[in-house]
Order: sequence, then structure tokens, then C-alpha cells
Amino acid sequence: MPRHVAVIMDGNGRWATARRLPRAAGHSRGVDAVRSTIETCAQRGIEFLTLFAFSSENWRRPTEEVSLLMRLFVSSLQREVGRLVEAGVRMRVVGQLDSLEPELRRLIDEAEQRTAGNQRLQLTVCASYGGRWDIVQAARGLVQRAAREGGAEQIGEEEFAAGLALSFAPDPDLLIRTGGERRISNFLLWQLAYTELYFSDVLWPDFDSDQLDTALRWFAQRERRFGRVAKPVTRL
Ligand code: IPE
Ligand code: IPE
Ligand code: MG
Repeated sequence: MPRHVAVIMDGNGRWATARRLPRAAGHSRGVDAVRSTIETCAQRGIEFLTLFAFSSENWRRPTEEVSLLMRLFVSSLQREVGRLVEAGVRMRVVGQLDSLEPELRRLIDEAEQRTAGNQRLQLTVCASYGGRWDIVQAARGLVQRAAREGGAEQIGEEEFAAGLALSFAPDPDLLIRTGGERRISNFLLWQLAYTELYFSDVLWPDFDSDQLDTALRWFAQRERRFGRVAKPVTRL
């Protein structure tokens, strides 16, 4: 089992369009897939689940779609946090949160506080998140510290990673992207260095526990070498 699974939840719009429904219907069914994925991950004993909900670049979508997604975020928090509390899920939201509406930020704070004592599954929702934003904000923190304490020599990979939004979690073991595209779309750029990448053509609203189990079985077959050789080398 992977300790940390990260997911790029893509394909809501195409799911809706294929059914001649408005894109909104796809996003709303996407929330159902989020709920089931959280439940299945908790059941399978996965420690960390990180979901890409809204990217830095998604602000470029039409205003109506952006505000719909924000409203959906608000209503999901209102409806689902009680369930998370009961299920033992700790929730965090990371990203450029100062660009979100105050009401949404308040609900995020409340959800984080209400679930802060939970330990079964650590859920992180990436909202207004971009991998480049994350790297830049970490760098900014390090520069400020170096200016105070003097010297850039102390900055190594560990110090850098400590400034990133997911500093509390190990790097993802498995990345799942649904919706058929084979790209990272500015998700966790630093943290994916040695992650196993699983791309599925299934559209996010159709991604159920069977799909997740298929991805987990695929992961179990991977041989992770981290640059080393596979077996003890007997001859060169
Ligand atoms: C993913 O689905 C949800 C978000 C990016 C917010 P899309 O909205 O990207 O769906 P497609 O890719 O257009 O089908
Ligand atoms: C990636 O999906 C972002 C999220 C799932 C939140 P996009 O639909 O925004 O990605 P691109 O634009 O196709 O790369
Ligand atoms: Mg998309």
C-alpha cells in the first residue's frame, strides 16, 4: 500500500458534456467521487490523500465556472465536514488561500479546526494551488530566513521541503490522474520527483472504489529503485 496517494481529479466537464448536461453537473458528480475516494482510502489504510481541486491556472476559466466551483466548495464543506469528523479524517486545505472568498476561508478554518485531532487519514485539498507557486513561496521563506540568520549555505533539500505546503506529509508514493491526459498541470512539482505515475482514461465522476483498487494493484507491482540497482549486484 502507498502511504501517500495524490490525485489530479480531471474530466468532470467532459463527463457532463458526453451526457448533454451542463459542466456544473459534472462538477457536482465529481464531489460524489471525492467522498467515495476518501472513504475507500480510509478503509484501505492509506495515511495521506492529497486532492487537486482547483489549480492556480483554473482562475483563467470563465467567471461563471469559477464561481460555481467556489460555491460547490462552500456547500461541500458545509455538508461533508461532519462526516469527516466521524470518519477520523483530518482535513487541511493548501494553496494561495488569500485569493479565496472570506466565507470560504472561514469554512476552511473551521473544518481544519474541527478535524485537527483526527489521525485515521490525512486529507489535503489543494485549492488555488500550483506547484510553481509552492516552490516560490518556499523560496521566499528561505530568503527571509537567510537574511535574518545570515548565509544561504544551510539551505539544503530538507530545509527547502520544510517550507513547502505539504511539509507535514511524505512525498506521494502514487499519483493518479483521471480524464485521459498524461500531464502534471502544475501540481506537486517538487514532491513528485520519485512518485509512481498512474494515468487513467476514466473521467473523474466515474472513478469509483474498483478504479482506485485497480490503481493500488498497479502500484503494488512497481519496483521502486530511487536510482539504485534492482537486486544486489553480483557482477559488473
Ligand atoms: C476537473 O475537471 C475539475 C477541475 C479542474 C476544477 P475539468 O473541469 O477540468 O473537466 P474537463 O477536463 O473539462 O473534462
Ligand atoms: C488539472 O486539471 C487541475 C485540477 C484537476 C484541479 P485541468 O483540467 O485544469 O488541467 P489542464 O488544463 O487540462 O492541464
Ligand atoms: Mg480538465
